[in-house]
Amino acid sequence: MEMLRLTKEALSRPMDPSDPHGILPRVLAFYPPCRKLYGPKHLIWFGTKPRLMISSPELIREVLVVQAEHFDRYEAHPLICQFEGYGLTNLNGDAWARHRRILSPAFHTENLKPIVPFIADTVRRMCDELAASSGGGGEAEVEVAKWFGPLPQEVIMLATLGRRNYEAGRAVFELQEELGGLFDHAHTKVFVPGYRFLPLRSNVRVWCLVRKIRKGLAALIADLQVDDDEGGVMRDFMSFMAPAMTKNEMIEESKNLFFAGKETLSSLLTWATISLAMHPEWQDRARQEVLAIVGRHELPTKDHLPKLKTLAMIVNETLRLYPSVVATIRTAKRDLELDGCVVPAGTELIRGGARREVSLMHLSSIS
Ligand code: HEM
Repeated sequence: MEMLRLTKEALSRPMDPSDPHGILPRVLAFYPPCRKLYGPKHLIWFGTKPRLMISSPELIREVLVVQAEHFDRYEAHPLICQFEGYGLTNLNGDAWARHRRILSPAFHTENLKPIVPFIADTVRRMCDELAASSGGGGEAEVEVAKWFGPLPQEVIMLATLGRRNYEAGRAVFELQEELGGLFDHAHTKVFVPGYRFLPLRSNVRVWCLVRKIRKGLAALIADLQVDDDEGGVMRDFMSFMAPAMTKNEMIEESKNLFFAGKETLSSLLTWATISLAMHPEWQDRARQEVLAIVGRHELPTKDHLPKLKTLAMIVNETLRLYPSVVATIRTAKRDLELDGCVVPAGTELIRGGARREVSLMHLSSIS
């Protein structure tokens, strides 16, 4: 209740303009007051689950690297999986390892590179529309987060479904957008066990959307046409999944890819733009670099990417200041000791990030 109250309170007011990078009090509102009261390593309760929060980079390394084999993926709540899909970000154990093996090659740089011209072309079209909306005056006001929305959507649809199934995927993506809105709303409320089964109007809409999304994806999979990796064409993610996963696994994994890619990319693009607005000198440096390496009238290609060093710095700094993923969770597979703490098997661990706490973890016992 207290965590929910702090979160609601933080979201009810704008960020402090004198501290534009201080996102932690907003995105993890409960953490700064807890840290102030109990220090960098402390125990909190998530409902019935005690969680130990740790913020030292050494400990995070211990968990994610040194003792990685003793930790498994987090088992997400069914409500979360209903929206995010039972895909890589929500699977654990053997199922995660199998899906990971199947999809890893899809994420190799060589496979993803052919998507660059598509991204460049989409951005050019968006900029042309923006220029047209300025009525020739050269100035237009846009809400950056909304304006960038369609870009990740188009890119992920193409990556997941390929060119031939791209249009049909759009409708599914839009349904998932609506489901995301309902899910966000539910997330700001106190969690009541069994609530999601009550036939309330919002729940009925959720069930309807979940059914429609499944149906849409099932139709796409039934009609799947696999793009071959020929002539520099990117192999879409579906074509990696098709030979090795069941229909249900492919549906869940596609939902998960739509979810995992959309908000992360939107958030990165939005914050990069806002950061550049705060630092016009970096805008100039980035512009000069693009003009020197790509040229005024050309579109960037995969060969330009490694040379755009200033842009890469801007992206990395944006991810450091405004990480798209503020928390990742692991569960201890066996009893172990961490920095003088006994961590029983079943303990959950969350690692998060934001400038002040470059890394942040929660450890929580579920026993
Ligand atoms: C700015 C962009 C992105 C950021 C910052 C980001 C960040 C992350 C982080 C921190 C994780 C680790 C989660 C964990 O270990 O629990 C993760 C996992 C994952 N992300 Fe992203 N991501 C981004 C874009 C994308 C995109 C575009 C896709 C796909 C279309 C994607 C798909 C995934 C998947 C499938 C996983 C799970 C990997 C696994 O568990 O094996 N992400 N991402």
